[in-house]
Amino acid sequence: LGYFTYDPGFLSTASCQSAITYIDGNEGILRYRGYPIEQLAEHSSYLEVCYLLLYGELPSATELGEFGNHITRHTMLHEAMRRFMSAFRHDAHPMATMVGVVGALSAFYSDSTDVHNARQREISAHRLIAKMPTIAAWSYKHSIGEPFVYPDNKLGFTENFLRMMFAVPTEPFVPDARFVRALDLILILHADHEQNASTSTVRLTGSSEANPFAAISAGIASLWGPAHGGANEAVISMLDEIVAEGRPVQHYVDRAKDKEDRYRLMGFGHRVYKNYDPRARIIRKVCHDLLSGLGEDNPNQELFDIAMELERIALQDDYFKERNLYPNVDFYSGIILRAIGIPLNMFTVIFSMARTVGWVAHWMEMMADPKSRIGRPRQLYTGYVARDYVPLETRA
Ligand code: CMC
Repeated sequence: LGYFTYDPGFLSTASCQSAITYIDGNEGILRYRGYPIEQLAEHSSYLEVCYLLLYGELPSATELGEFGNHITRHTMLHEAMRRFMSAFRHDAHPMATMVGVVGALSAFYSDSTDVHNARQREISAHRLIAKMPTIAAWSYKHSIGEPFVYPDNKLGFTENFLRMMFAVPTEPFVPDARFVRALDLILILHADHEQNASTSTVRLTGSSEANPFAAISAGIASLWGPAHGGANEAVISMLDEIVAEGRPVQHYVDRAKDKEDRYRLMGFGHRVYKNYDPRARIIRKVCHDLLSGLGEDNPNQELFDIAMELERIALQDDYFKERNLYPNVDFYSGIILRAIGIPLNMFTVIFSMARTVGWVAHWMEMMADPKSRIGRPRQLYTGYVARDYVPLETRA
């Protein structure tokens, strides 16, 4: 292998040092800055988790209040950006709009793009966290042709997002407190996951000293792929298909077990967590509570019944037990997002909103590290060794 270690997919390469998030896949452990995800999920809020990931410590009440003020100060978007968003085709996928609009932030907020200035880096971090819900909700409003709803800074982070998504000028918006809490939990559980594909993309992009808006836009592009941020969407597509086909759930379980059939149950299994996904354990209860509180007459009842039957079969079946294929976090987050009324094409957008703080925290950590250098992987060349140029008229 010459001078280089060949490690496709970076399965055994640590690309950086980081003090932000700890994962032990065998033991099912996830901690942000040392705090177990279980404790943060029970006691914290998404905004407090943002502070923790960015600054390394839980805030005092004063610090949390000041941080909240900084974030709400930046929730608005430049009016020219609103016009810019209106120019996308009406049927643009909201993730396409996200990649473009977040990348374009550097054209509107160039006063915080000096990556060597720590204060400017912090302002961009606040701007990104604050503006993502506005951009996300507006990308949806544009796709359905409804007027953009401006942020209301009296509301909390998650409630404000739901209002910008669902409010219309003709009716007062009354948020469902259960939905606010469930979505806040989804945001906490997705806030960071160490060096996944999109976070590694943000680090690599930022390592060239590109501005943070460009780096985060690259992260959104990476997250967009179905192998990364699209899993919860795949869960609902699978459940929709089962509802539409009308066959018994066991049929799909048998297909998933059949080695001749490449069919897999979406939302089951995990690459890193081989015993259990700690996030799934937390979100499962919230999902069950939410569904039982909705009542039998909700429009998604058949889909929810199928999901619960799949969960029950998979947790008892030897095939799934032997391979540790339990429902993962995206199985439950997909169901919760459907219950809240979030359209399918917004699932990955919400993931990107949650993960923005993780991306920004990693970018800040890297930029503050005097040892960090431009990322420049090597390759194993497999082409021709050397050959001579052949004039056009003599080529076969
Ligand atoms: N349904 C049926 N069988 C499965 C499934 C599944 N969902 N997942 C794995 N298996 C079987 C697989 O066929 C293999 O069986 P055998 O040992 O007999 O050949 C065994 O389990 C091990 O599978 P693997 O493909 O080696 O496992 P992996 O670690 O490479 O893949 C995974 C992990 C998540 C890609 C996979 O479980 C999968 O495709 N799951 C469905 C998609 C999904 O839910 N993805 C979201 C994951 S969470 C995302 C996040 O954390 O952000």
